[in-house]
Amino acid sequence: MSISQFTKRILCIGAGYVGGPTMAVIALKCPQYKVTLVDSNAERIAEWNSDRLPIYEPGLDEVVTSVRGKNLFFSMETEKNIHEADIIFVSVNTPTKMFGVGAGMAADLQYWEKTARQILACSDQPKIIVEKSTLPVKTALAMERILNFGPDGLHFDVLSNPEFLAEGTAIQDLSEPDRVLVGSRLTESGLAARQEIVDIYRNWVPEEKILVSDVWSSELSKLVSNLFLSQRISTINSISAFCEKTGADVDRVAKAVGMDHRIGDKFLKAGIGFGGSCFKKDILNLVYMCQTYGLEEVADYWQGVVRINEYQKERFVTNMLQAMFNTLAGKRICLFGFAFKADTGDTRESAAFYIARRLIDEQARVVVTDPKALPNAKIDLAGFGDAVEFERGPYEAAEGCHAIAVMTEWRQYRALDYQKIYKRMVKPAFIFDGRNILDHKALFDMGFNVYPVGKPALMHLHES
Ligand code: NAD
Ligand code: UGA
Repeated sequence: MSISQFTKRILCIGAGYVGGPTMAVIALKCPQYKVTLVDSNAERIAEWNSDRLPIYEPGLDEVVTSVRGKNLFFSMETEKNIHEADIIFVSVNTPTKMFGVGAGMAADLQYWEKTARQILACSDQPKIIVEKSTLPVKTALAMERILNFGPDGLHFDVLSNPEFLAEGTAIQDLSEPDRVLVGSRLTESGLAARQEIVDIYRNWVPEEKILVSDVWSSELSKLVSNLFLSQRISTINSISAFCEKTGADVDRVAKAVGMDHRIGDKFLKAGIGFGGSCFKKDILNLVYMCQTYGLEEVADYWQGVVRINEYQKERFVTNMLQAMFNTLAGKRICLFGFAFKADTGDTRESAAFYIARRLIDEQARVVVTDPKALPNAKIDLAGFGDAVEFERGPYEAAEGCHAIAVMTEWRQYRALDYQKIYKRMVKPAFIFDGRNILDHKALFDMGFNVYPVGKPALMHLHES
């Protein structure tokens, strides 16, 4: 199809974990549209145009390869592409603000605002602007105020179309979403713009899964979805602490609770605390907004979810310390996994980082292995010098270690030859299974002292 035959020209500003996969799937499902991504990071764009994509996501390479250069383009020509586009998705990062008012809590909207001003500067026709990033409620209003008060009197409709994909399952989530949400102003032009966005998704998403709403409800629904998911994790993690004191088994409790269809069995896996770039920032963002509106009780309630998450990570380290005779100084501890979850190379806010840092505080030597996240782990841990080592293979990583701590639930860690690993470790050998993925009884029988999360530890108290 020649460029002029495309029926819509879609641009996405921000080619990250969300922008890249989302636009690749739109391009795949809608060959009649031209889809372009731009990013201020030239290296990222070059990687998207290469054989080594900047992010690891199962199935992503195949999708990108099949549409890149046909109707999917990665470009550094931001001005030209803004000028040409009919619809602009904005998927820039919205991290927690680390300075000034709201530091450590509020969303940092500087990237977002820069984008709005850039769109205005490069437009000579009205356009539909779509918030893809997760934003504080009423951010669309700020964007409208920047865009619709420009010198040329152009009108822009600003819509909210939050993204619900999870890393590691992004292609599946985008191809068969639970729902797609599009929020707009309820004006004539807002409703027409909303229909344009709905029409994109109708190419592959069943009608009944496409929800429409006002803008503020849509913005808030995204935050609340993440709040509910993270709350479930903190809930089960809080119970894991209780289980460790009482001898109950958190996985059995989660199973029994989750079989109640009103509760459901997802997001009830106890572990080392949730990581990832979004849960914590989105909770803090809502907490900050609640405080701003004087809703202190509501703010405290949600702050508790973050508090339990911090507690869970710290608890894991103190459990290790106590189990290993109250000293980790000079001991080698191998971290199995550094990604914040399996099937991604992403390490943003990974609990493994916190745990590595705390182990180093205790003067342990940390050896990190991960099938996909070693490049990011090396960047994250660069400041710790030779207190940290990196090994691609788990067998080599565990060699000469006093303990293994499972940080990421990579499937391959279940299938390792732990007998072989045990032989190479310092005795007594410890395994702290932060994800409860291993066969604890079998490991114990091999000779390991085994410490799961939220279950009784299996300890060899006497020489066998
Ligand atoms: P990311 O950091 O991977 O990607 C953001 C990209 O935007 C970066 O490549 C950055 O260089 C680029 N950028 C920033 N300012 C720019 C500008 N002015 N012009 C051009 N490019 C610019 O972030 P992400 O993980 O893709 O998240 C993006 C948004 O989506 C966030 O608001 C996040 O909360 C939300 N979200 C993320 C996920 C996820 O799984 N990562 C899921 C749903 C929603
Ligand atoms: C999460 C949401 O699941 C997505 O719907 C949302 O779009 C996204 O955040 C976002 O807004 O960024 P993601 O962070 O990629 O997706 O991954 P999750 O599968 O939600 O896992 C988050 C963290 O919780 C991981 O560290 C994971 O290991 C942990 N987790 C998850 C548990 O500890 N227990 C569970 O039962 C589930």
